[in-house]
Amino acid sequence: MKLKDRIAIVTGGGKGIGAEICVRLASEGAKIVIAEMDIENGEKISKKIQGNNGEAIVVETNVAEEDSANNMADVAIKKFGKIDILVNNAGIRHINNILDHTKQQWDDMISVNLTGPYLCCKSVIPHMIKNGKGKIINFGSIASFMGRPDRVAYVAAKSGILGLTRALAVDLTGKNINVNTICPGLISTPFNQKFAEDPTHGKAWGKETIVGRWGLPSDISGAAVFLSSDDADFINGSEIKIDGGWLAAKTRKGEISN
Ligand SMILES: NC(=O)c1ccc[n+]([C@@H]2O[C@H](COP(=O)([O-])OP(=O)(O)OC[C@H]3O[C@@H](n4cnc5c(N)ncnc54)[C@H](O)[C@@H]3O)[C@@H](O)[C@H]2O)c1
Repeated sequence: MKLKDRIAIVTGGGKGIGAEICVRLASEGAKIVIAEMDIENGEKISKKIQGNNGEAIVVETNVAEEDSANNMADVAIKKFGKIDILVNNAGIRHINNILDHTKQQWDDMISVNLTGPYLCCKSVIPHMIKNGKGKIINFGSIASFMGRPDRVAYVAAKSGILGLTRALAVDLTGKNINVNTICPGLISTPFNQKFAEDPTHGKAWGKETIVGRWGLPSDISGAAVFLSSDDADFINGSEIKIDGGWLAAKTRKGEISN
């Protein structure tokens, strides 16, 4: 077991990628704090982990609120006495062209996707410093690297995450805390369900990757285990793209020799 008795907070751990990360970290021996707005889903994942002889609790959390982020860390410390791992997975997305993109949508996406990770890091880092070690994993996207249509705030927030990750890693020099970003591509979760299941485009979009399919939450969770473990002690201020090669290659019909 790579993470025996490590304490891991996973934001948005009630469904999709976050839920799979909770289960996978627990299977490696970590005790899990599921920090969720959606308590019902959080409880389902907590029960699943307990059913596999793991340990998990749910803390009702809105990562965009400073008091709520602080409470998340307080509850984790009260229950488990330390925090080893923070996975800043919670995220939201509104899709709207700039002409219709409201200030409220902008504020919501920046608050949850960028300010949220900052607040959760702020609440957890003093405990990691006391602990003498820590691993923080932020969540970017393929949208961290390129413009995507009708997603100005999402792209801005997910690009900002790469800067936050690097700046935090530098600020934590000498503290033995690694800060890295996972950048998923097309992953079939509730977040993307309507695209993955789109009868006209769904399959074709999967085929745009080099691997030739949509990703699954289980394609992401292995990297979360790795970045949480001692195997990743020399990886800091960095990012890993998990997109089936989508960002690495753009081929066009007619340009391939065979
Ligand atoms: N699914 C993809 O294809 C994809 C691609 C690139 C990046 N991502 C990123 O991966 C992360 C997870 O995505 P997903 O597809 O699993 O999403 P999802 O919508 O399936 O799950 C997100 C979870 O976060 C929770 N959440 C939302 N706002 C919250 C808040 N303010 N505080 C606490 N919890 C909150 C939700 O309740 C939900 O359980 C997100 O950061 C997303 O931007 C996903």
